Amino acid sequence: MTELLDKIRNIGLTGKSLLRLLDLSDKQMLDLVDLAIDLKARKKANGHLVNPFLRGRNICLIFQKSSTRTRCATLCAVRDEGANAEYLGQGEIHFGKKESVADSARVLGRFFDGILFRGFKQETVEGLAKYSGVPVWNGLTDEWHPTQILADLQTMKEYFGHLKGLKVAFVGDGRNNVCNSLMVGCAKAGIDMVDICPEELSPEEHIVAAAREAAARNGSTVTVEHDPKKGIAGVNVIYTDVWVSMGEEAMFQQRLKLLKPYQVNMDLVKATGNLESGKVIFLHCLPAFHDNKTEVSKDTGALEVTDDVFESNFSKVFDEAENRMHTIKAMILASLA
Ligand code: CP
Ligand code: NVA
Repeated sequence: MTELLDKIRNIGLTGKSLLRLLDLSDKQMLDLVDLAIDLKARKKANGHLVNPFLRGRNICLIFQKSSTRTRCATLCAVRDEGANAEYLGQGEIHFGKKESVADSARVLGRFFDGILFRGFKQETVEGLAKYSGVPVWNGLTDEWHPTQILADLQTMKEYFGHLKGLKVAFVGDGRNNVCNSLMVGCAKAGIDMVDICPEELSPEEHIVAAAREAAARNGSTVTVEHDPKKGIAGVNVIYTDVWVSMGEEAMFQQRLKLLKPYQVNMDLVKATGNLESGKVIFLHCLPAFHDNKTEVSKDTGALEVTDDVFESNFSKVFDEAENRMHTIKAMILASLA
């Protein structure tokens, strides 16, 4: 218990927020991933029941967009550690409508010990952090999704045993929140990252530049490639996400046309050259359109990934989803334990 607590405190994030992976040192990010691996083992051994770290604390979740994983992972993580969690959905509080972000933040900071936010603008989560006086964690904005990438790195480390030297390809909407964060997270871990996307959906230059700066520190590379077959050679992790992110629903038809050649299918996986040797896995932050069983995909069928890839033995998407809970717990404990 003391050993684990020392490990948590030594990360050096006590009282701190996590708004973007760029806010962490490379070591802090990797320490959070290692802590999540320890916390996963501790939970499997029911260690959290013996010595929960957050007894009596109150954590607030403010969500302006829907969520299955981030919401439930946070609720379970917080409750595992003996704290209370309150979920505040869109329209349930005055936040941003009858009350400014700064005023709501100052009020909520008097009640709660920490706030996890999911919403649209990055400046909203930054405002919450600035005015609440308590740690604030970014559970997805239009620009970043840092907690997702902690879980992705944990999943890669569990499978390959290491991170440095791996090669990751994100295939699809190369300028969305998940891709932006993955680019930075991989670079900070010394992983080669290739963003395979249509030219029209290329990442913003300042994000590529920030990721390249981190990659240079760690001996890895960040590249943007528009030809899927060219970019995919030698890749160990094929990652994709929905073609239309929350808030961009009006772009649906346009994205279908642009991204059809970027669908992750067996041909693309084979083109890594790593399938036979077991040196490639498939990841997706989820939710995923891999069949026609959702309202959105009932007429289109599979979109960003085909069902045979999604359901394959090299697909680690449910390990990845589980790891959302362990990594979010690691992050909250690092701020509060
Ligand atoms: N991956 C992810 O953030 O899932 P949710 O939208 O369900 O939270
Ligand atoms: N890019 C997706 C991620 C969902 C977890 C979105 O923002 O909708």
